[in-house]
Amino acid sequence: MSPSTAIQTFRAIDVIRKKRDSIELSQAEIEYFIDAYTRGEIPDYQVSAWLMAVLLRGMTRAETAALTDAMLHSGEVLDLSGLPARKVDKHSTGGVGDKTSLVLAPLVAAAGVAVPMISGRGLGHTGGTLDKLESIPGFNVNLPVAEFRRVLESCGCAMIGQTAEIAPADRKLYALRDVTGTVESPYLICASIMSKKLAEGIDALVLDVKTGSGAFMKNENDAAFLAELMVETGERMGKRVLALITDMDQPLGNMIGNALEVVEVVDVLRGGGPQDLRELCLELAAWMLHLGGASKTVAEGRRRSAELIASGKALEKFRQMIELQAGDPRVNDDLKRLPQAQKITDVLSPKAGYLASIQCEQIGTACVILGGGRERKEDSVDPSVGIVLHKKVGDRIAKAESIASIHYNSEPRAERARQLIVESCAIADTPPTAKRLLIHKIIGRSAESN
Ligand code: URA
Repeated sequence: MSPSTAIQTFRAIDVIRKKRDSIELSQAEIEYFIDAYTRGEIPDYQVSAWLMAVLLRGMTRAETAALTDAMLHSGEVLDLSGLPARKVDKHSTGGVGDKTSLVLAPLVAAAGVAVPMISGRGLGHTGGTLDKLESIPGFNVNLPVAEFRRVLESCGCAMIGQTAEIAPADRKLYALRDVTGTVESPYLICASIMSKKLAEGIDALVLDVKTGSGAFMKNENDAAFLAELMVETGERMGKRVLALITDMDQPLGNMIGNALEVVEVVDVLRGGGPQDLRELCLELAAWMLHLGGASKTVAEGRRRSAELIASGKALEKFRQMIELQAGDPRVNDDLKRLPQAQKITDVLSPKAGYLASIQCEQIGTACVILGGGRERKEDSVDPSVGIVLHKKVGDRIAKAESIASIHYNSEPRAERARQLIVESCAIADTPPTAKRLLIHKIIGRSAESN
């Protein structure tokens, strides 16, 4: 249905009433509502009422797919069909210390699978890929679409921020959700994430749905529900989709903070890095290679990814992408070229024992307080500050041994961060039960039959 026909046929009030009364909306009604709102023809107060009705009443799978589709087509959908390689992306629902995107884009591109990645900034206590990339001197995440395509064609991966042309309905809706208590609906989260990802012109998508104290989805059931919804919605729209549900009860890797996380990315691409980060990167890369047709099995994808790291090809790809996006590629050889905080101080353990748990969200908040994230939308980010964990959950620790180092530029901020870190770490006499990093997989039918 064309927007003009739709506008003549429907009224916003009827769409709101239907949702309020739990009556399924048709695709045409949802198309009308989203299109008219994007063009400024439905006021925020009516859309707010509708969003709250969706939060309270939920949506059917057909409605969720229709909403995703309407939001996707509210703007430009990239046509990358001219690129011979399959296009695969990864999306994480957000966490603390999650720098996997920066490893995956060059690693997967080194295997011949194209990775067009459109990412976001830090949200709340979680870090953002764009802020991490911008800690590399000169790196430009604001490429116009034509330039994005050129970088992608030259090196097989490109990483930018959302442009005004991509999914504009999501921009408006997200801002409204933020102030109307309607962010938490899994149906709205699904449509928001999937509309942006599908606008990248990808063939397949690997989702990393985080669960635990540092994730938006605190419990596994909610994470699994969101993951299933996103997989099913992506499949309905003709994409191969897989979701891994992974642990975010402690930060991923040891470093939290923008430039510090780039250091850890380079460590992994050099064949080192912390075990949990390396393991998750290899698992996500394996699935991306498999869905991208570069490996027959996931196990082969894992082997191939490890080889691409060992041979230095993945690191070389990272260097190439940095150069093409106007960044300083010398950071790969000399990490001191990344922004450095003026001071470092240690957080010492008050007693001996085992690190039993970490309140992961508080660690993310401590990084925000240091200046590594935003407390208000208009805040700028200090790329140099952050936290380096010396202990992970389950590790033995002696009295007065360092749990973490704080990299900082302001004493009062460092003091507040120290208090949060101390409060967030529980030390016990016995070791905790080990938790798995990979909790569960949800494999879409077409991903399975690939
Ligand atoms: N990230 C998004 O892009 N959208 C949401 O709704 C939640 C997280």
